Amino acid sequence: MEKSRPHVILSAATSIDGKIATRTGKSKLSSKQDNVRLHKLRAKVDAILVGKNTILKDNPLLTVRHTKGKNPIRIVLDSKGNIPKKSKILQTCSKVPTIIAVSKKISKANLRKLQKFPVEIIIAGQNSINLKLLLKKLSSRKIKTILVEGGGTVNWEFIKKDLFDELIITLSPFLIGGNTAISLVEGLGYGKISDSPNLRLKSTKRLKNHLVLSYIKL
Ligand SMILES: NC(=O)c1ccc[n+]([C@@H]2O[C@H](COP(=O)([O-])OP(=O)(O)OC[C@H]3O[C@@H](n4cnc5c(N)ncnc54)[C@H](OP(=O)(O)O)[C@@H]3O)[C@@H](O)[C@H]2O)c1
Repeated sequence: MEKSRPHVILSAATSIDGKIATRTGKSKLSSKQDNVRLHKLRAKVDAILVGKNTILKDNPLLTVRHTKGKNPIRIVLDSKGNIPKKSKILQTCSKVPTIIAVSKKISKANLRKLQKFPVEIIIAGQNSINLKLLLKKLSSRKIKTILVEGGGTVNWEFIKKDLFDELIITLSPFLIGGNTAISLVEGLGYGKISDSPNLRLKSTKRLKNHLVLSYIKL
């Protein structure tokens, strides 16, 4: 039976204490070798997806640069269409296919702003983005695999709604701490350990001081 949604891989680099950025928003936790691994993975998937705050904090390109390969489609979750015109993602969207997912809450002004760029705008959801509906729409656009590259709020939404299949984390040799530093998974979280998804450790790979852990969701 064909799946009604794309295959979803959650991906992040975390410190040993589970943070994906410092309290000031610094998030470069990967090594050179790990970036090559990540970019090889990017080249194999149909799309990369991130949340709005990751665009605001990191201003990423989300392209394949540390290896040869095709750029996947870039998808940003931005309910109100707030990402800045000067963000790298909007500035490069004539070269790299880009989807901005918004909700019906988007203002006319922000919609007009986005429409000036050669991006595809997908409206999915009333006040916030309905991930299930968005994934269905992405499936109909022949997107079969999506690499979700954070941040913590987006990760929680995919976990809570049971909309992921794999998790690949790079455990980086840092201890960051900070009550306000973003963790791999944000949101309300579970009250019981038994509520956590069941994960099977598929493989481990040591890249010098970094450890790449791949899990399958059962
Ligand atoms: N180390 C790593 O691998 C890594 C990777 C990525 C990011 N990061 C770090 O993570 C931090 C950002 O994480 P974050 O948790 O603050 O934000 P985030 O997950 O990047 O973005 C969350 C925002 O996305 C928007 N959104 C729209 N629809 C959503 C939906 N259905 N589910 C969830 N979010 C939705 C929401 O804003 P609206 O309501 O306005 O739409 C929400 O506040 C940054 O500091 C970045 O550096 C680290």
